[in-house]
Amino acid sequence: DHDEHMDLRPPVVTIMGHVDHGKTSLLDALRSTDVAAGEAGGITQHIGAYQVRLKDGQRVTFLDTPGHAAFSSMRARGANITDIVVLVVAGDDGVMPQTIEAIKHAKAAEVPIIVAVNKMDKPGSDPTRVVNELLQHEIVVESLGGDTQLIEVSAKARTGLDNLLEAILLQAEVLDLKANPDRSADGVVIEAKLDKGRGAVSTVLVNRGTLKRGDIVVAGSQWGKVRALLNERNEQLQEAGPATPVEILGLDGVPSPGDAFAVVENEARARELTEYRIRLKREKSMAPVGA
Ligand code: GTP
Ligand code: NA
Ligand code: MG
Repeated sequence: DHDEHMDLRPPVVTIMGHVDHGKTSLLDALRSTDVAAGEAGGITQHIGAYQVRLKDGQRVTFLDTPGHAAFSSMRARGANITDIVVLVVAGDDGVMPQTIEAIKHAKAAEVPIIVAVNKMDKPGSDPTRVVNELLQHEIVVESLGGDTQLIEVSAKARTGLDNLLEAILLQAEVLDLKANPDRSADGVVIEAKLDKGRGAVSTVLVNRGTLKRGDIVVAGSQWGKVRALLNERNEQLQEAGPATPVEILGLDGVPSPGDAFAVVENEARARELTEYRIRLKREKSMAPVGA
């Protein structure tokens, strides 16, 4: 509704690209630009989602996507929860099948692409070749009069990172990203696992609203009371606003990546919703072929 209170929120950026083109390395390099990185010697755990805070207080949320072909459905989902795709293309390898697949996902989701030509430290890297290959897939970079920003980077040598962040912030400004922080939270599960000591640990991305400790959450066919909220530095948070990735503890089971989550008003409602979803799933799996 048009009376909703809307605040600017950080852009959600998904890193996509062909296997081994350097997505995770680039994320690690970008994370080192976080003003809080290295503070208190905190061990950063490897999760597929984190937020970088820049010197001027601006924040950017990054999501990693696995490169293996088997994960193409998660990549497709990644394109749907993201504002901007950073397409990583290794400068020595050029456009490859999963680069093309990522372009298709981004275009289908109408998400703007920023190209990061990575591995520029390698002597065989040729950004001109990448530009021409991209043109064959209707990605026209700015130097050719198009509207796609292309940044040359090296995750290994840590060059071009500031240019890439600048390009992201410029694109975010154009998109004018806003969300209402004052409603109950919803969002999507990025990844989830069962931890021996802590139980179900789910990394979620808050889409709208603010997720708080003590909230009752339904995620896929799991539910629970949020016992703890943790950021990627394992710091306890009281709450997480729009576009914030956060680990939550307290669900009764492990949801699936891509599952939607939402805060509900009470436990009875959570039980009702999850039982309904489980029943739906069961009925679907028992449906006769062709039904
Ligand atoms: P998947 O997740 O398996 O698809 O791979 P990825 O795209 O995340 O690539 P990853 O970061 O695992 O890097 C793949 C290989 O490329 C590793 O051996 C990295 O060390 C190397 N690599 C990544 N970035 C650079 C770079 O800028 N320069 C050089 N020389 N090597 C790089
Ligand atoms: Na790899
Ligand atoms: Mg990777």
